[in-house]
Amino acid sequence: MLNVGIDIGGTKIAGGVVGTDGTIVERLRVPTPTDTGALADAVADMVRELASRHDVHAVGVAAAGFIDRTRSVMLHAPNIDWNNVPLRAQFEQRIGRPVTLENDANAAGWGEYRFGAGRGSVDMVMVTLGTGVGGAVITDGSLLIGANGSAAELGHLRFVRGGRPCGCGQNGCLEQYASGRALQRELSDIADAGGIGERLAAHRAPDGVVRGADLAMLLAEEDAGALEAVRRVATALGEACGAFQAVLDPELYVIGGGVADLGEVLLEPTRLAYETSLPGFGDRPTARFVTASLGNDAGLVGVADLAGLRSA
Ligand code: BGC
Ligand code: NA
Ligand code: ZN
Repeated sequence: MLNVGIDIGGTKIAGGVVGTDGTIVERLRVPTPTDTGALADAVADMVRELASRHDVHAVGVAAAGFIDRTRSVMLHAPNIDWNNVPLRAQFEQRIGRPVTLENDANAAGWGEYRFGAGRGSVDMVMVTLGTGVGGAVITDGSLLIGANGSAAELGHLRFVRGGRPCGCGQNGCLEQYASGRALQRELSDIADAGGIGERLAAHRAPDGVVRGADLAMLLAEEDAGALEAVRRVATALGEACGAFQAVLDPELYVIGGGVADLGEVLLEPTRLAYETSLPGFGDRPTARFVTASLGNDAGLVGVADLAGLRSA
């Protein structure tokens, strides 16, 4: 049986035809239109194209934001212009068949749980570090949805009282301290301050951003400024995971999204911060931390699988 999974990201829409074992038999990718109508059209075109070449059973779409309990309405999206948008109906009208809508991080977490780094676990948390910070909670083998559909918004845990403003309307959210954007902010603060930031400053692109490849190079050379920026983000992430442990007590944290490409350079200080903020540390088992193994495919694979399961 084959299902289609579509993952709407900030810069690109990734789609694929996915088998029940999680393998991708065909994939497509287009830039994300900024206009929401054009975006829905692009998703529908992608589904139609994939369905013209494969015998597709179910269709799933993953998108960033708070989705209602019935998985129909995008209630709120901190980084996209969606407020109470009936996304599922928009897709279904254009595609002419049922669509499963799911939060992007939930979809990625489900994908990792079923086919990736979380396979074999029972209680797992995924945190995605990209433009925003997303979360997925798998508890006793099922995905936590919440009474109003918006559980597992781990990026909007208040991390600093009176902290930086967030797209969700609050302030001090973890997303402002541990996302890809937060990492760029730390890199630029350190670069601007001189001292250990000198090499970082020299590697900033014209738009002020330190590109992934440059950052990886500086980290490989153990540049103190680059390491400090990663340590700040990892510390925020690890401390938040210590707090998540108090609520959810997972056996495993799977860290995904673009920032997770840093691998152990990120995970090491994350584990340290987790342990220093874990209630009862020393007397209780600790969770494992790993990076996602499905990379950018986790969301589309996960939402295709959820679509298949929900329409079975
Ligand atoms: C949104 C989440 C989303 C995450 C990652 C957050 O800002 O609130 O719904 O999963 O970003 O895209
Ligand atoms: Na989520
Ligand atoms: Zn927030």
